[in-house]
Amino acid sequence: MKKILVATEKPFSKETTNYMLETAKSLNVEVVLLEKYSSKEELYDALKDVEGLIVRSDKIGAQEMDKAPKLEVIVRGGAGYDNIDCEYAKQKGIVVMNTPGQNANAVAELTFGLLLMMTRKKYSGNQGFEISGKSLGILGFGNIGRRIANYALGFNMEVAACDIFLKPGETGNDKVAYCATVKELFANNQVISLNIPATKDTINSIGYDLLMSMPKNAVVINTARKEVIHEEELAKALSERTDLHYVADIAPSNAQELLEEYGKQVFFTAKKLGAQTEEANFNAGKAALNQSAKYLNEKVADFQVNK
Ligand code: 3PG
Repeated sequence: MKKILVATEKPFSKETTNYMLETAKSLNVEVVLLEKYSSKEELYDALKDVEGLIVRSDKIGAQEMDKAPKLEVIVRGGAGYDNIDCEYAKQKGIVVMNTPGQNANAVAELTFGLLLMMTRKKYSGNQGFEISGKSLGILGFGNIGRRIANYALGFNMEVAACDIFLKPGETGNDKVAYCATVKELFANNQVISLNIPATKDTINSIGYDLLMSMPKNAVVINTARKEVIHEEELAKALSERTDLHYVADIAPSNAQELLEEYGKQVFFTAKKLGAQTEEANFNAGKAALNQSAKYLNEKVADFQVNK
């Protein structure tokens, strides 16, 4: 029976790991857990004899893969796989997958939690503004972006979407406008939701010019990756525009400085929590187990990201 290591510095819920342990046998695999590990050595040791690996945001690079001579598949229980060296995995013949959509709802709901908190001035009692009738531009129109669009329509917002993979007329809803460029998206929408992965093209791609081009009372919500924002240029834009707000799930590296200087305009979650719901946790963990077992037993690679 092939062995799957679930290595998570930030563990899945108990319900999820119990499900994994109980279901493993029926999927013809063995599951071993390594949770809240505190050293790389612990991880290296656990990787010695496993064919499958399930992780969350855990960094898996060449060093880790070289410690796992039998490794055939890595599944990232979640959407973003920038924590995995996909190119090196490909060279080694290791399949990498993610579990798209499984935590999308959690992130979409959080987007509105963060947005409303900012528009109501962090619940300070100071006068805020309403989102009904305001415009929302969604950058990155995948599973999360599409859910955000639906919820925004429920709030009576005007919605536009921009994505390199999106073509005109393909937003899936007549009420969601297609936007061809990032520049237009920022210039025409008061609220922007960032839902793009961190790639060489997107890292530092949201900077001063885009932020300064936004309409009055601008709010940028980042539930994607901190790296997509150009942090110095964000600070400069915040210093020049007191009506610009930036709220993020994962604090930027200059969070302390931003909070001290522009406390009313920014908010950062205590730790990354977009996918921290019972449902998202379970769905992502269950999908990760099913996908890795299917690959190990049938060589079927659903959602491979390193072809
Ligand atoms: C994702 O990419 O799926 C989210 O960022 C969730 O990441 P997490 O599993 O580390 O919470």
